[in-house]
Amino acid sequence: MIRSPDEKSRRVREMFAGIARRYDFLNHFLSLGTDIYWRKRVFRRMTALLDGADGRILDLCCGTGDLALELARRWKVVGCDFCHPMLVLAGQKLVRRGNGRQVIRLAEGDALQLPFADASFLAVTVAFGVRNFADIDRGLREIRRVLRPGGVLGVLEFSHPVVPVFRGIFRFYFQRILPRLGHWVSGDRSAYTYLPASVGDFPAAEPFREMLQVCGFVETAFERFTGGVAALHVGRRPSLRGNEGPVARERADENEAS
Ligand SMILES: C[S@@+](CC[C@H](N)C(=O)[O-])C[C@H]1O[C@@H](n2cnc3c(N)ncnc32)[C@H](O)[C@@H]1O
Repeated sequence: MIRSPDEKSRRVREMFAGIARRYDFLNHFLSLGTDIYWRKRVFRRMTALLDGADGRILDLCCGTGDLALELARRWKVVGCDFCHPMLVLAGQKLVRRGNGRQVIRLAEGDALQLPFADASFLAVTVAFGVRNFADIDRGLREIRRVLRPGGVLGVLEFSHPVVPVFRGIFRFYFQRILPRLGHWVSGDRSAYTYLPASVGDFPAAEPFREMLQVCGFVETAFERFTGGVAALHVGRRPSLRGNEGPVARERADENEAS
């Protein structure tokens, strides 16, 4: 039994350290490559929401860096994770992908206590990370703190399929087949029983949207991916002058400077 948030954080960190070397392979294998397509959709949605604004994006819980690399097609990115072996693999991947290091920086840090100043980022993304937070509420408020006013949050997370027959098939796969395959390939039984359990504990899309609002985000919305297997949640930190978003904020900054 997990007794405290600190203990949950430690266990999550150790678990990801244990499967880090097999993480990418298992991700693509167990999702049949769908995770790659989902991250591309995150990129497209962030592009639409940021509407030409420039700045740095924090990819929190960056793991081995796949979403950071996707976002780096357009923005400067800081990838942050509290699991050192994941960051080492991310660093190696960035080197393999050429000049990624020039636009992506990596930082070791805990989402519940981020090592960044207030209002540092144009946007924050988190892919498959929030459900692991020892205290989701605290993590979301910390994200809000480092977002600049009008900045955008994008959370990609597993969700609860909504189509009845598909939901049954998916549940069977996710709860019965996936843990066995994951154990077989990674050699770690607990990580792949933890996965369906943590998704089961995570709020469904609408309650999570409400949670974002309670934690101070506005313009919250979500879209379901692949019948609800995953969902992309978005929201904004309220702007100082109404909810005009980061582009308006950028222009306001320019006007103040001139
Ligand atoms: C399922 S992986 C997702 C990695 C990557 N975002 C992706 O899409 O493949 C979850 C990552 O979140 C990180 N993580 C979980 N809780 C965290 C926390 N409190 N602070 C920082 N990183 C955390 C883990 O170390 C792990 O690398």
